[in-house]
Amino acid sequence: MKIVVSIGGSVLISDSDPDRIKAFASVLREIATSNHVFVVTGGGETARKYIKLGRGLGANEGICDRIGIDVTRLNAYILILALGSFAYPEVITTYRDALVAGEHGIVVMGGVSPGYTTDAVSAILAEYVGADLLINATSVDGVYSSDPKINPDSKRYEQMSAYELVEVVLSTKLHAGSTSVIDPVGAKVIERSGIRTIVLNGSDPSNILKAVRGEKIGTEILSD
Ligand code: UTP
Repeated sequence: MKIVVSIGGSVLISDSDPDRIKAFASVLREIATSNHVFVVTGGGETARKYIKLGRGLGANEGICDRIGIDVTRLNAYILILALGSFAYPEVITTYRDALVAGEHGIVVMGGVSPGYTTDAVSAILAEYVGADLLINATSVDGVYSSDPKINPDSKRYEQMSAYELVEVVLSTKLHAGSTSVIDPVGAKVIERSGIRTIVLNGSDPSNILKAVRGEKIGTEILSD
């Protein structure tokens, strides 16, 4: 199978702990023994911190996005270091290059262009390389009907259609560093490509393995 794994910066980088990154690398190496693996890393708290700094200095949203992209690429490089010889040794910056580099190891990339987040990058990449599965490893255990931190009655979907996903995320405000389980551009690409997608809690990296093995976990987004 061809699998794209999106790893949120907040779950990849936590307390500057190299063991967390090693744990992700070990899971990805295991998956790569029998699959083609492409990884997209997010920027997490560091991206938000630097975006805030840029905004404080008067930078516009596009420039703040560029700051975020730089951080996602830094996280991508850190993961490449942990993957060692299993990874293509450089951070990929275009979908076209990802396709070629995929012949030479696990591809790791961060952001690509302003206006969206690495959720969208992973969905576009999955479409571009013709992936069979897109896994979004984030800091929550799936997609909720509304933000569970704000609405305690919000329910988690075990399965939902891509159309429902779009409806849920469309209310999210899109600004540099914004937080939503999947960004609106990503949700629309998942809808149009019909790619099988699983949103799961990446705080435990072994959840990614469970999803690849077909175990029920997180929220599965089915094509319409
Ligand atoms: P992330 O993909 O990390 O956003 O990109 P996130 O949703 O906050 O993900 P977590 O916290 O890592 O799970 C960080 C910021 O970088 C810019 C955006 O401003 C985004 O909010 N970015 C990233 C882009 O503009 N384009 C990209 O392709 C990627």
